[in-house]
Parts: sequence; structure tokens; C-alpha cells
Amino acid sequence: MKIAIDGPAGAGKSTLAKALAQKLGFIYIDTGAMYRAVTWKVVKENIDIDLESAVCELAKKTEIHFQINSQTQKIFCDNQDITSEIRSPQIGTLVSKIAAYPSVREIMVKQQQAMAEASNVVMDGRDIGEIVLPDADFKFFLTASEEERIRRRTEEYKQAGYAVTAESIRDDLNRRDRSDSQRPVGALKILRDSIIIDTTNLTTDEALAKMLTVIQGE
Ligand code: CDP
Repeated sequence: MKIAIDGPAGAGKSTLAKALAQKLGFIYIDTGAMYRAVTWKVVKENIDIDLESAVCELAKKTEIHFQINSQTQKIFCDNQDITSEIRSPQIGTLVSKIAAYPSVREIMVKQQQAMAEASNVVMDGRDIGEIVLPDADFKFFLTASEEERIRRRTEEYKQAGYAVTAESIRDDLNRRDRSDSQRPVGALKILRDSIIIDTTNLTTDEALAKMLTVIQGE
């Protein structure tokens, strides 16, 4: 079984995808982490982010894999654990630019499809229902109000020890959502078969229960 979860930043995708995968005994694949990993390497190797061909060459040479245990999930780039580094505000600011390059998306999508072939998966991102898993059994589109999404992201950054203001987060999320929704390839959109869940006023457990009700047909 394949479950696709798409939606804007801070809508609750990764928390819910993780919880859903655990509940169902499926593998969780965080595709955003893969775009973040390429971004992390672009920064590390000092590649010109404006040059699609250079970024694409780098993405081709980059090995990304997940290490999944029952409780934790780590992401490795060329065998280096970069799980926390990719969550920095700097990577968050740059990632959408790299994710807009069609040549980079092509490489990522192929890898994601190969990962999904081997097992039952819950996969989250922006283009999962449309491009990566068009035949997914369920396609969720998670959303939440802008205020709530900003509140959640500010909280996450604070917990991770970053000094951020709600204003800087607002700018960053809005700019990223605009770029993610307007790019020509792999744009975030609501599909004909999307199941829309607004998580603004829902706890994780409540949102999870809604998703399970849809999946289990109760
Ligand atoms: O957690 P958050 O929603 O902030 O972002 P993420 O899922 O880690 O994704 C980071 C960025 O990667 C997004 O803003 C997109 O630009 C890009 N992305 C994408 O283009 N396609 C995907 N399938 C997943 C992420």
C-alpha cells in the first residue's frame, strides 16, 4: 500500500506521516529531507546555487539514504548523519530554490519511486500524489492556517535552539510556499483525488484518527 501526504510547510505532514507509518507498520519516507540533503551539500561544497547544471551534477554524485529504527529515523548524505543539520533556518531558506530545478527533481523522484517499490510506504512532500506516487491508495492534502503553521515552525526552531522571530519565519514560509506552488514542475497542488484535512484546530491524535478513518473505511 502507498499513502501520499502533500501540503505546505508547517501543516503537520512529517509528524502525521511518522505517526501513521508507525501505526500501520509502514516505512515513512520524508522526501523534503532529501531536497534538504542536496541543499546541505550545495552549501558545504560551496556550489553556485544559481547554476542548475552545477547543482544537478552534485545531486547525481550524492548518495542519500535513510536509517529507520522503530523509534527514530536518520538521514545520511554520503554516509554522514545530517539529520539535525538539514533542519537549520539556513537550509530552510535555500531549499525551495534547489527543489525548483527540474533536473534535480528528476533525480530525487526516481530515487523516491525506487524506495517506494520495496515496501508499504507513507511518503510526504509536495508532489507525491501527482508525480512520485500517482497510483497511491490514498492521497492526503494537509493544510493549516498561516498563523498556526508559523506558530508550529517557530516552536520547532526554538526547541532546536535557533534564535528566530515569528516575522522571519512568516517571510520564509510564505516565500517557500509561493515558490513550491508556482514552479512549473512538481508544484504543490490539490488534486482531484486529494483528501483534504485542515489540522489548524486538531491535535496530532485527532488528525491521525481522521486519516485512519479514511484508510480503514470506517
Ligand atoms: O517540513 P517542511 O514542510 O518545512 O518542508 P520539507 O517537507 O522538509 O520540504 C522542504 C522543501 O523541499 C519544500 O519547501 C520544497 O521546496 C521541497 N520539497 C519538494 O519540492 N518536493 C517534495 N516532494 C518535498 C519537498
